[in-house]
Amino acid sequence: MKTLIKNGNIVYFDKIERADLLIDGEVISAIGQNIKETADEIIDATDKCVFAGFVDMHVHLREPGFESKETIETGARAAVRGGFTAVACMPNTNPVLDNKFVLRYVQDKAKEAGLAKVYPICSITKGENGELLSDMLSLYKSGAVAFSDDGKPVRTSQMMRLALEYSKAYDLPVLCHCEDMDLTNGGCVNEGYNATVYGLKGINRASEEVAVAREIIIAANLGAKVHICHVSTAGSVEIIRAAKKLGVKVTAETCPHYISLTDDCVAGFNTMAKVNPPLREAKDVEAVRAALADGTIDCLATDHAPHAHWDKECQFDTAAFGISGLETAFAVNYTYLVKTGVLNLPKLSALMTKNPCSVLKLPGKGIAVGEKADLTVVDLNKAWTVNPSKFASKGKNTPFAGKELFGAVEMTFVDGDKKYARDGE
Ligand code: DOR
Repeated sequence: MKTLIKNGNIVYFDKIERADLLIDGEVISAIGQNIKETADEIIDATDKCVFAGFVDMHVHLREPGFESKETIETGARAAVRGGFTAVACMPNTNPVLDNKFVLRYVQDKAKEAGLAKVYPICSITKGENGELLSDMLSLYKSGAVAFSDDGKPVRTSQMMRLALEYSKAYDLPVLCHCEDMDLTNGGCVNEGYNATVYGLKGINRASEEVAVAREIIIAANLGAKVHICHVSTAGSVEIIRAAKKLGVKVTAETCPHYISLTDDCVAGFNTMAKVNPPLREAKDVEAVRAALADGTIDCLATDHAPHAHWDKECQFDTAAFGISGLETAFAVNYTYLVKTGVLNLPKLSALMTKNPCSVLKLPGKGIAVGEKADLTVVDLNKAWTVNPSKFASKGKNTPFAGKELFGAVEMTFVDGDKKYARDGE
């Protein structure tokens, strides 16, 4: 099967060029002006952008165990609808993704779904309970791409040190959910004005920052690599920036909601805005945006955390933490980072594809002849209003419902196969 994408703006990681692009089977076989080759399908991409398929290094697909929230199939469908050609899924499933049987199950389900590529992340500790290390190396050899206890922090510094010793010895990516649970102390929103006004228990920034500092200090002592998940505070940004300056091998990610929303969204006890770490304040949003622009934060991930409606339609303090993010991510990032002038498109592409691939050591050289045709076609001029009932994800939990965003994903190709095409909504 040959597909010719005509006249698109090809967004590389460092430039944009208008060209035709030919897909032959699974790979990009030509890029150039006026490609004349006959093809089974010709797509007119005039005024559209062609990106290397987005790679989300942090999603929760919930299967096995929480299929009422999401399955691998619905999550992978949401991924391609959001322009993602690959996702890495977190292990806070039931049973936890800490052994080869669950790993195999996730791999099989992903293959069966045949949509976005799904890369499993296994837990650092067995059962994510912080007491015993998982068999990291053997899980890595069986296809785990990274290790994380995401959803929870690794409780003790000694356990984190052990994990980083193994990760250093075998170059295994470790992704840290940074939270000091004693400081969180049952909080459910950012500690500040809104927590006070609504009588909700606050989570101080220190809960995140103490843990960010801990992971960085342990990694620095060992000379190991460490990746910090979902950065939400100005203080975390400062710590990571300082560590990078000192030569610590730290990378970091943030999420669309931390570059676009503040804790004002919890007004009226809006559980859709309840997420962990919590939405912070304008000064944090500014700091996180600046950190993306100057390279302190390397990656944009979604922390896609789908929940069933009953997990959110309840009292604020008992509602689940999390935002269903795959289907709004690109548009939120584009609207709040590119249209505002914080980033240009190639930089956004690197943050959503090249850099996550580099942290996870995935193939992801971007758009080039001979590379796998993992591609996302986007209409940047298209304004649309978020309607969660249209989501392919089972999780309709989004604080962006009703918001107007720019940039609609038109098509997503995985290994040359068109896995998603927008149907006009
Ligand atoms: O808000 C969140 N939801 N943050 C996490 O770290 C975990 C996630 C989930 O699994 O629902």
